[in-house]
Amino acid sequence: MQIGIDKIVFQAPAYYLELHTLAKAREVDSLKYEKGFMQSQMAVCPLDEDIVTLAAEATQKLLQDENVENIAMFLFATESSVDASKAAGLYVHGLLDLPKKMRVIELKQACYSSAAALSMAKDYIASHPEKKVLVLCSDIAKYGLGTSGEVTQGAGAVAMLVSANPRLLVLQGENTYLSEDIMDFWRPYGELYPSVDGKLSIETYLRFFETVYADYLEQNKKTTASFDAFCFHMPYGKLAYKAMQQLLDKYVITEEEKEKLEQRFFKSTHYNKRIGNIYTGSLFLSLLSLLETDHTLKAGDTIGLFAYGSGATGEFFSLQLVDGYQEHLEKAYHESKMQERKELSFEEYEAILKAEKDSRKTLENKPFVFLGLEEKKRQYQKR
Ligand code: CAA
Repeated sequence: MQIGIDKIVFQAPAYYLELHTLAKAREVDSLKYEKGFMQSQMAVCPLDEDIVTLAAEATQKLLQDENVENIAMFLFATESSVDASKAAGLYVHGLLDLPKKMRVIELKQACYSSAAALSMAKDYIASHPEKKVLVLCSDIAKYGLGTSGEVTQGAGAVAMLVSANPRLLVLQGENTYLSEDIMDFWRPYGELYPSVDGKLSIETYLRFFETVYADYLEQNKKTTASFDAFCFHMPYGKLAYKAMQQLLDKYVITEEEKEKLEQRFFKSTHYNKRIGNIYTGSLFLSLLSLLETDHTLKAGDTIGLFAYGSGATGEFFSLQLVDGYQEHLEKAYHESKMQERKELSFEEYEAILKAEKDSRKTLENKPFVFLGLEEKKRQYQKR
C-alpha cells in the first residue's frame, strides 16, 4: 500500500518586514542578510494572530473539499506552544467544528516533531488504510529585538493530509534518525525567547545531516543518484545551502548532476526566503516551494528530505512524486496569500515585538483572530 501526503497548504501571517529595513535599523550591511543568510523578508504576526489562528486558516483551506469524517488523528507539531497542558490542535478542532471521534495530540521536539508526526501518520494508516491523519506544523520563531537571531525570525503554518493512495507524494524507504542531548537551542518554561548557541547549532545541524544521510544510503542501499532533489529544514537559506554543498562535495561526481540539484535547491527556497524560519513547518515549506516553482520535476522523481530539531534530533527520509501531482497543488492560493500581506515599517515591527497594548489591531480580512485571555482562557473569534 502506498501512503503519503495527499494535500498540503501553507498559511502566511498577515505582516512582513523587508530585511533591508531591518538591516538599516540595525546598521548592518543589507548584503549580510541577502547573501550571508540568503533571506529577503521575514513574516511577522500581529498580536491577534497566533499558532492556532494560522493553523486554523491553513486547515480550513486544506479540508474545504474533504470528507472530514475519515480523519482519525490530528497531530499538531509546534515548539511555540500556547499552553503547557492543552494541545493547540483542540482550539483548531473547535474553531473548525471537526468530528469528535478523533485523537488530538501536540508533539514537541524543536523543529523536528513535524517529521515524526508524518512518520507516525504513515504507521497509523498502514493499519487503518481507510482513515486519514491531519498533520499541522505551526510556529512563531522569535529571538528578540537586536539579537543575532533576529534576522532568522518568521512565522507560519503548514497543514498536511496524510492518507493511503495520496495525490501528491508517497513516503518511501526506511527513515534514518539520530538523537543526542545537546544544548544548541532551548527555551525554558516562562521564557519568551530561546537561548541559542548559534555556532554549536550550525555545527550540529551539519553533522547530523552528514550522519543520517550516510546512514540512509547504507540502510536503503541507495546512492545520491537515487534522488532528483533535496529539501532541508531551513532556519535560513544559507545553512540549508551549506548542507547541500556538503552533500555535493562528498557524493556527486558529474557537473550536470550537481547543477541540476543546485538549481532545484534554489527553487526550494522560494517561500522560505520571504517568510523566514517557521520551525516545524520550514522543511515542508521548502518542499512546497520546490513543487510549486520547479517545472522540470516529474512523476516518479524522488525527493530526499532532512529534518532537524535542536536539542537535538535529525532525520532523513524520502518522498516520491505521484502522477498528476501538479493538479493538486494550491499555488494560486499561496501566492495570493503572500500578496495580501502588509509590509511593516520598522517602528510597527518593533511595537509588535514589544507587545505594546496599542499594537493589537483586529485583522479585518482574517477568518480567525486571537482576542486575548479571559479568566486565563484563550479567546478566539471565528468570522
Ligand atoms: N555580505 C555578505 N555576507 C556577509 C556579510 C556581508 N556584508 N557580512 C556577513 N556575511 C555572512 C557571513 O560571512 C556569514 O556567512 P557564512 O555562514 O558563510 O560564514 C553569514 O553572513 C552570517 O554571518 P555571521 O556568522 O556573522 O552571523 P551571526 O553570527 O550574526 O548570526 C546565527 C548567525 C548564529 C545563525 C544567528 O543568526 C542565530 O543564532 N540564529 C538562530 C539559530 C539558528 O538559526 N541556528 C541554525 C541551526 S539550529 C536549527 O536549525 C533549528 C532552528 O530552526 C532554530
